[in-house]
Amino acid sequence: MAGRSLVCVILVAGHAQQLKQDIEEDESGKYIHLKGVPKALLPAPQGKRILDHWWDAIKTRQLFSDVFLVTNADKYKHFERWATASDFPVENIINDGSTILDNALGSVADVELAIRTKNLWENDILVVAGDMLFQDSKFDMAQVLDYFYRTPEGDLAIYYEMGSLEPTFSRGIVEVCSKTNRITKFLEKPAPHETCSRNASVVFYAFRSETVSRLPVYLQEYRASTQRTFGAFMQWLINDLKVLVYGMKLPTGFQLIGQVGLKDYESWNSYFADQAKKECKAPRSHRAYARVGIMGNPSDGFFGKTISLSIANFWAEVTIKASAKLRLLPHPLNDPIDFGSLSDLYGISNKEGYLGGLRLLQATCKKFYHFCATRGIALTRQNFTLSYDTNIPRQVGLAGSSAIVTATLKCLMDFFNLSDHDMPKTLQPQFILDVEKEELRINAGLQDRVVQIYEGLVYMDFTRSLMESQGHGNYEHLDVDLPPLFLVYLPNPSDSGKIHSDVAARWERGDDKVLEGMKKFADLTEEAKTAIKNHDWSTLADLMNSNFEMRRELYGDAALGVDNLKMIEIGCSFGAAVKFPGSGGAVLGFLNDQSRMEELRHRYQQEGCVVVDIIPKKPVPKNNSI
Ligand SMILES: *[C@@H]1O[C@H](CO)[C@@H](O)[C@H](O)[C@H]1NC(C)=O
Ligand SMILES: *[C@@H]1O[C@H](CO)[C@@H](O)[C@H](O)[C@H]1NC(C)=O
Ligand SMILES: *[C@@H]1O[C@H](CO)[C@@H](O)[C@H](O)[C@H]1NC(C)=O
Repeated sequence: MAGRSLVCVILVAGHAQQLKQDIEEDESGKYIHLKGVPKALLPAPQGKRILDHWWDAIKTRQLFSDVFLVTNADKYKHFERWATASDFPVENIINDGSTILDNALGSVADVELAIRTKNLWENDILVVAGDMLFQDSKFDMAQVLDYFYRTPEGDLAIYYEMGSLEPTFSRGIVEVCSKTNRITKFLEKPAPHETCSRNASVVFYAFRSETVSRLPVYLQEYRASTQRTFGAFMQWLINDLKVLVYGMKLPTGFQLIGQVGLKDYESWNSYFADQAKKECKAPRSHRAYARVGIMGNPSDGFFGKTISLSIANFWAEVTIKASAKLRLLPHPLNDPIDFGSLSDLYGISNKEGYLGGLRLLQATCKKFYHFCATRGIALTRQNFTLSYDTNIPRQVGLAGSSAIVTATLKCLMDFFNLSDHDMPKTLQPQFILDVEKEELRINAGLQDRVVQIYEGLVYMDFTRSLMESQGHGNYEHLDVDLPPLFLVYLPNPSDSGKIHSDVAARWERGDDKVLEGMKKFADLTEEAKTAIKNHDWSTLADLMNSNFEMRRELYGDAALGVDNLKMIEIGCSFGAAVKFPGSGGAVLGFLNDQSRMEELRHRYQQEGCVVVDIIPKKPVPKNNSI
């Protein structure tokens, strides 16, 4: 961010007395080579030392304008040697002069020493304890800093959720507001009854320069080295001064904090080694289905009500797998990159345009990162490959684009282990719509995304007051128990002869006819909901026809297009109830007299249309309330 320069201070000045003693007294002979080695340089998983894991996370991509390491006089030489071998600037190592625990300065004083001697008062500072063991693939330092920059009015403290066997009295515990991520209280090593929080804060903080300037004030007041821990400082900052500090939870634990013994080192070292091994995930695939609007569309974009059904006939499937590089794979048909000839390229481009699915994957990834970054949701530092396939016919309004976005979102949530708690189900449809509207300028309403997330037969109420108060509509699963429905579409839809509708503009202007029309769609939906619950199919058929008539009245024949009207006419001539399932290019129908279905099918086929018997996609059984 312009004007802010962020400096990293790595603390390795602690005196690990217990560990030193255990290693000296160990009789197994396994640890002879570790005698005198500082804790931060002990072996850690993946053939690295503990400090190497930090250095790898910190040195990537010029995240910091400078990096300093504060050590003690006792172990200085070890770190000097490490720095030379690890491409760390040796002149940036600061020696705090202490040689034993009894003359240690305390970590707050160590950081102040670095800031004072290197004149860093104008900088924001990231402080980490370089002798903690953690799983470095579990987060990306760039994303941590991103969150810090997005919340410029506060400092940032990293925390993790403790395992069930870790006692709270060994850590700084934070209470975090789950809405704002603000840390409301900091408790240094509390007894179990003092807090119900299991969120442990570790020495991993980003401080604004305003807060950095409070360090001398604190040191003035608290002079014993035991008071000069970051736990005590954070208590003062958060509980006494009420400084705004945000929390960001990382999906890795941090261990070997403070005075630990050889047993702790052994067991946590093998624990993190196991975790790293487990990480190789198998590829995962997720599907999202096409849908047909049963009633009320297109009022979803206008605070109306609709009923929509997801169908098993057509779907988009996205696959995610861990990979060395981050890759989005083009689909051989939808994102062509190889052509038979220039004239082949001409023909394909003419017919299909330039709108493949790759842009949908990319836009979803972009918005996903942004969503997580703004909410302080940490993502693991792992590359992946996304690929997709779809059999949803294009340009016939069956929600093919949003199906790809939906399936991509499911893959990303799965891969990064996000739950409905991180992105509530009620808000997922809006996320998908935002990908399409804000990133790709695709104009649409919420209904398709809602039914693709919830699946099955869904009643949706988008009444303005609901939308504005809760940020989403009310959604309800109805029993998927419908008469046989058919779908007709044009294999090669064309936009020619179809004019752009002015309904949205008229609605914005408050045109009475449009407002009333949208109200009428909502009323039809209420009636259809009752008819469906009562299995009253003849009423449902009448309502479908009314839905089409209302649409025709509002939009006019020119906007509906000749081909679409023709498909409607054929259905009507057989006495079928017909309407558009989406934005045009297809017709949804219900023929009460099934004995004539074969004849109707042939009639459509003669016109070059494709006729499909709809197979409803039932929702994965859970409880019915949404
Ligand atoms: C612990 O952190 C989670 C978020 O990760 C938060 O929702 C929860 O409220 C926190 N617990 C307490 C007691 O603050
Ligand atoms: C991700 O891929 C890029 C190259 O595309 C590579 O430079 C980077 O190291 C990879 N990150 C991880 C964590 O593997
Ligand atoms: C995924 O998250 C859940 C909690 O939401 C947690 O219990 C589980 O261990 C996590 N899995 C992985 C592989 O991180």
